[in-house]
Amino acid sequence: MALYQHLASLLLLIRLVASLAVDTSNATYWFAQPVDHFGNTSSGLAQWQQQYMINATYYQPGGPVFLITPGETPLTRYYADTTHLNTLAQSLHALVVAIEHRFYGDSNPTLDLSAASLQYLTIPNVLADFASFTRSVKQQPSKVFPGLAVPENSRVIFFGGSYAGNVAAWMRSEYPELIDGAWASSAVVYGRLQDYQYDQRFGAHLQSLGCGQCFAQAVSDLDQMLLSNDPQELLAAQQKFGIPELSASDTAALISALVSATANEPVSQMGDPMLPAVCAFFNTSSCIDGYAAATNAAIQMMGLLPQQLLIMGNSSLALDYDALGQVPRVWYYQMCSWFGGWQVPPPASMHLTPYRSQLLDLDYWQGNCQKKFGTGVAVPVDVEGYNRRWFDTLRGVSNIYYTAGELEIWRDSTVVVESSLLGDVASGSRIRLIEGANHGQDIQAESDLDLDTVKEARRVGDRLVRRWLNLRTSHGPRSCR
Ligand SMILES: *[C@@H]1O[C@H](CO)[C@@H](O)[C@H](O)[C@H]1NC(C)=O
Ligand SMILES: *[C@@H]1O[C@H](CO)[C@@H](O)[C@H](O)[C@H]1NC(C)=O
Ligand SMILES: *[C@@H]1O[C@H](CO)[C@@H](O)[C@H](O)[C@H]1NC(C)=O
Ligand SMILES: *[C@@H]1O[C@H](CO)[C@@H](O)[C@H](O)[C@H]1NC(C)=O
Ligand SMILES: *[C@@H]1O[C@H](CO)[C@@H](O)[C@H](O)[C@H]1NC(C)=O
Repeated sequence: MALYQHLASLLLLIRLVASLAVDTSNATYWFAQPVDHFGNTSSGLAQWQQQYMINATYYQPGGPVFLITPGETPLTRYYADTTHLNTLAQSLHALVVAIEHRFYGDSNPTLDLSAASLQYLTIPNVLADFASFTRSVKQQPSKVFPGLAVPENSRVIFFGGSYAGNVAAWMRSEYPELIDGAWASSAVVYGRLQDYQYDQRFGAHLQSLGCGQCFAQAVSDLDQMLLSNDPQELLAAQQKFGIPELSASDTAALISALVSATANEPVSQMGDPMLPAVCAFFNTSSCIDGYAAATNAAIQMMGLLPQQLLIMGNSSLALDYDALGQVPRVWYYQMCSWFGGWQVPPPASMHLTPYRSQLLDLDYWQGNCQKKFGTGVAVPVDVEGYNRRWFDTLRGVSNIYYTAGELEIWRDSTVVVESSLLGDVASGSRIRLIEGANHGQDIQAESDLDLDTVKEARRVGDRLVRRWLNLRTSHGPRSCR
């Protein structure tokens, strides 16, 4: 007994010493990358610095490295410290590394966001950045993790949600020698030029909450005002909805974006956030009044001032100058030049109920591409070519976990719907629909109030990660080693 206690305190001491040796600070790290991995770097800076953050709280030398990127949003500590990765890192003694995507946040290959600079925003360049970093993780760990005892040749799992889920899946398909597996949560890998399916999923969500009919009626009533060609009618609509003076199309796009702002929010045991944020306002006899009330409430909830609404609304959610730091502009470039995904109402010939304005057609969105980037982008974007190169490439790839929430508006762009196009699921890969859940919930921060279906999707993913790493399923986080 005494001997056992001695051993236990010795082990505790070793753990304490080991944890003193690891870097548990908030430090931000930088990794040098070329502007263009595939040739011409004469324009702009030849090299730039890619930002990353680490969390070594649960790391033990020899454990795997979990890489995550926020994708199209700036990097914050949330990604290094707070997601489901950290829970899994505890039982697998993993190092969590969150790394920013080129052109977002502080990871800028060029000095501005002009069309000439954004030509370096290509999928092969994005993936080559992460591959180059991963190579250093494996070959020169002391360089990328100063002060941490990370041996060479760590196993690496890549995680991402939404577009970052695409990146995770592509990292596994393009660089299988570097990436042992990918957790692609709600990855929107299937491109659609005119994504009316998005509109229909949004409508189905509203229908399931009981306000779909009235919402559709309100959209149609508002269109009467927006399409009237009468400036007084347009102004009256803008005043009713709390929108500044914009073109009719920009007004429609802004209202649509504001009122669907909660459509991606997580559903928990506390309920569905779309109910209080949208459907609750359709309690009046006039549908358009309910729509206006929901829009005004969204503006108030987000604390948006008229000047901010004007900037958001002008040419649809993107500023039109070249300065760095404009997330919507960079994302718009990706849509204009990679995969479209324009959120249009369904074509009239299909006789489906639309949940957005008729003004939001392909011409409107593509016109914005040319306004923003000039001839720097070709219109229309070659979505078929994109799918051939970047969707078909995922066929037969092992060790990818794809998830999608039942309610999510992007569902028709995920493989959970397109699985027949993807073909047979390869060895070590899985596809899972998460009942009752929304976008990307399985890798987000955990809470006791999470849906059971979300918790189960995590357990399935955790087992897959263990399998990719050739680890036996553990019976608890404190297994003896
Ligand atoms: C990390 O940074 C946050 C905010 O910048 C600060 O509140 C916190 O104390 C820091 N933690 C450590 C461990 O340095
Ligand atoms: C490299 O890019 C610059 C600026 O875009 C251009 O002037 C030059 O001709 C390019 N060189 C090659 C070899 O493509
Ligand atoms: C790292 O992750 C752990 C677990 O999620 C968390 O408790 C800690 O605050 C995080 N941050 C740092 C700097 O260690
Ligand atoms: C929208 O932006 C364009 C170009 O940046 C500008 O010329 C125009 O005045 C703006 N319109 C409004 C309503 O602010
Ligand atoms: C309708 O619902 C909204 C949002 O919950 C509430 O603020 C408003 O008082 C309700 N109006 C009526 C007439 O019940």
